[in-house]
Amino acid sequence: MLQHQFTALYTEFEKLDDLAPADKLLMEEAISAAKSAYAPYSGFFVGAAVLLENGAVVCGNNQENAAYPSGMCGERVAMFSASAQFPGIAFKAIAIYACSDKISVNEAVTPCGSCRQVMAEYHSAFENPFRILLKGEKSSILVFDGIESLLPLMFLSKHLKS
Ligand code: THU
Repeated sequence: MLQHQFTALYTEFEKLDDLAPADKLLMEEAISAAKSAYAPYSGFFVGAAVLLENGAVVCGNNQENAAYPSGMCGERVAMFSASAQFPGIAFKAIAIYACSDKISVNEAVTPCGSCRQVMAEYHSAFENPFRILLKGEKSSILVFDGIESLLPLMFLSKHLKS
């Protein structure tokens, strides 16, 4: 029998001003995007901003629906929109922010499993790990250098080939 262990590596910054200026700007885009989220059911507003290799920033936010499963997370709205608008251009970073009109968001928002899987797809499609910055309204900022620490043993297109 073999036992294996994963380690997760990320950096924590206490406040926005502690980030590199470009990272701070990207997180501010995500904060701004959260303000226009369509989240009448949960009152949980998520904004995401994707920085591409060509310098473009594409934002998204969560879009809810009376048929709950038809809604979409802010991260995927941003990533799909970035890939649709700039096909084939690699991502450099994604900033994700959440706030709520019902609760106090004291911890960094950690993306759901489906959003992590989509991040894994773009990491591998572009053969380029991109940074992931996470923040909640009243939290510090967590920075990951790639998807590995957020999604160990991820399923990728290479697993569809022999
Ligand atoms: N949500 C996101 O947009 N991203 C996350 O990382 C977590 C959850 C959205 C989905 C739904 O609109 C609301 O937050 C509550 O789950």
